[in-house]
Amino acid sequence: MDSMDTIRIRGFEPRYAEDVSRMLRNAFFWYHRGDESCWLWKSFSPENILRRCSRDKCLIALKDNRVVGFISFSTTLYKVAYVSLVAVDPEYWGKGVASLLLDTLEEKLRAEGFRKIWLMVTHVNRRAVSFYLKKGFVPEGILRDHTAEGLHEIIMSKKLNSFNRE
Ligand SMILES: CC(C)(COP(=O)(O)OP(=O)(O)OC[C@H]1O[C@@H](n2cnc3c(N)ncnc32)[C@H](O)[C@@H]1OP(=O)(O)O)[C@@H](O)C(=O)NCCC(=O)NCCS
Repeated sequence: MDSMDTIRIRGFEPRYAEDVSRMLRNAFFWYHRGDESCWLWKSFSPENILRRCSRDKCLIALKDNRVVGFISFSTTLYKVAYVSLVAVDPEYWGKGVASLLLDTLEEKLRAEGFRKIWLMVTHVNRRAVSFYLKKGFVPEGILRDHTAEGLHEIIMSKKLNSFNRE
């Protein structure tokens, strides 16, 4: 079991694009099953990771300079953040890496006055649904047949700060 104090969270840099791509393709094997024509496999190409991280904000988790986790998010002027992707290298599942990434992000957002964080998770992704419930997210709705027929996206959110109406 790796101690969490050996995992470092830092901002994404282009030199990590290849490693992030490899890690994401491993983490989402449950979805694409190694099918290189799948939209999700393609979306994790190094080029698309670079595109994502120039559009969204991205943090990585490093263990001895190896990328073991990734989180990307975007923010709005009305102080709500959207988490577009969270993933951990399967070799590191269950060791608290995703918790560390999300806690780091939440701490930063709270300090910046963000009220709420939200995301979508595929209904069959029980590991991720359990993870988000454990982290205090609550279901808000469902998008039916969203990324494919029969795959529904559960919309989940978590309040960070109470809303100041002044
Ligand atoms: C979902 C995912 C990000 C969780 O990452 P992780 O680093 O393994 O999660 P953590 O170790 O921080 O787990 C924190 C808590 O989540 C819950 N959890 C995590 N994995 C779980 C599982 N397989 N079953 C049930 N609960 C689980 C547990 O309550 C755990 O707390 P505990 O260790 O105190 O019991 C990871 O499994 C992953 O990368 N999956 C593939 C990519 C993916 O589907 N991402 C989500 C897209 S929306």
